[in-house]
Amino acid sequence: MPPRKIIIDTDPGQDDAVAILLALASPEELDVLAITVVAGNVPLIKTSRNARVVCELAGRPDMPVHEGCGHPLERMLITAEHVHGKSGLDGCDLPEPTMPVSDLSAVEAIIHQVRRHPPGTVTLCPLGPLTNIATALKRAPDIAGRLAGIVLMGGGFFEGGNITPAAEFNIYVDPEAADIVMQSGVDITMMPLDVTHQALITREWLDRIAALGTPVSRAVCGWLDFYERFDIEKYGGNGGPLHDPCVIAHLLKPGLFEGRFINVEIETASDLTRGMTVADWWGVSGRAPNANFIAKVDAPAFFDLLADRLARL
Ligand code: BDR
Ligand code: CA
Repeated sequence: MPPRKIIIDTDPGQDDAVAILLALASPEELDVLAITVVAGNVPLIKTSRNARVVCELAGRPDMPVHEGCGHPLERMLITAEHVHGKSGLDGCDLPEPTMPVSDLSAVEAIIHQVRRHPPGTVTLCPLGPLTNIATALKRAPDIAGRLAGIVLMGGGFFEGGNITPAAEFNIYVDPEAADIVMQSGVDITMMPLDVTHQALITREWLDRIAALGTPVSRAVCGWLDFYERFDIEKYGGNGGPLHDPCVIAHLLKPGLFEGRFINVEIETASDLTRGMTVADWWGVSGRAPNANFIAKVDAPAFFDLLADRLARL
């Protein structure tokens, strides 16, 4: 089988950075056509810089990096420096990137790549707010029917939210964009907090990565040490959740995950529950299913996969 063509749409973020590394370490299975960046964890200028830092760390200065939307569709940008630090990628000092930003915007790049490849061959992997993806779908509605699918990190239901009691960060930042994506008719797989809160970093796993002794392993350990402190303080326990790499792991080994094809709607009106992903897990609404809502991961196998792939870089 030829590698699956993907576009990673991202707002790095330490967990985004590890997801990008996992994808770039897996060329037999994944052909990363482009990285498109969006404002989210930090403003666009920083997510763009961080994406290029990660590409250069992975030895891929040739990767096209396209800058996208700097603000949500209808709202003010909310960022998460309280989790990711001032740079968005605190925890390891790396050289400033020298690779260029592409002339093509993220939205144009998504449309161009999806139209350029045969129908059913390009998968979008959003790891941040869905602003770029929704804008592309609005501007070029034909791409919905050409996509192989969208595998995204976002939402939460039984687990509640992480930025408000009801909402997960990526969906909360741009609920109108999430609504457009969920109504698009594209084959959608969602990695909500329900599953990513099972992918908890352990000290043993970090030691295993540190023992690799490579520049990549040093960066990953530095980033994750910094990044997990916030969630450890918040939730207790010994390790923080590694959200975004679940998306890439699902592409590599879907058998590690379990979910249900259900209806998921986005709350856009209520101030109290803005950005909530109302997931009809029990099929009580009569609304048509629109997403494979993932609820379980084999965490030890997920972390084994990640360690094996990071060792390749
Ligand atoms: C999501 O929000 C960001 O802080 C992370 O990078 C992840 O994509 C988790 O809620
Ligand atoms: Ca992210």
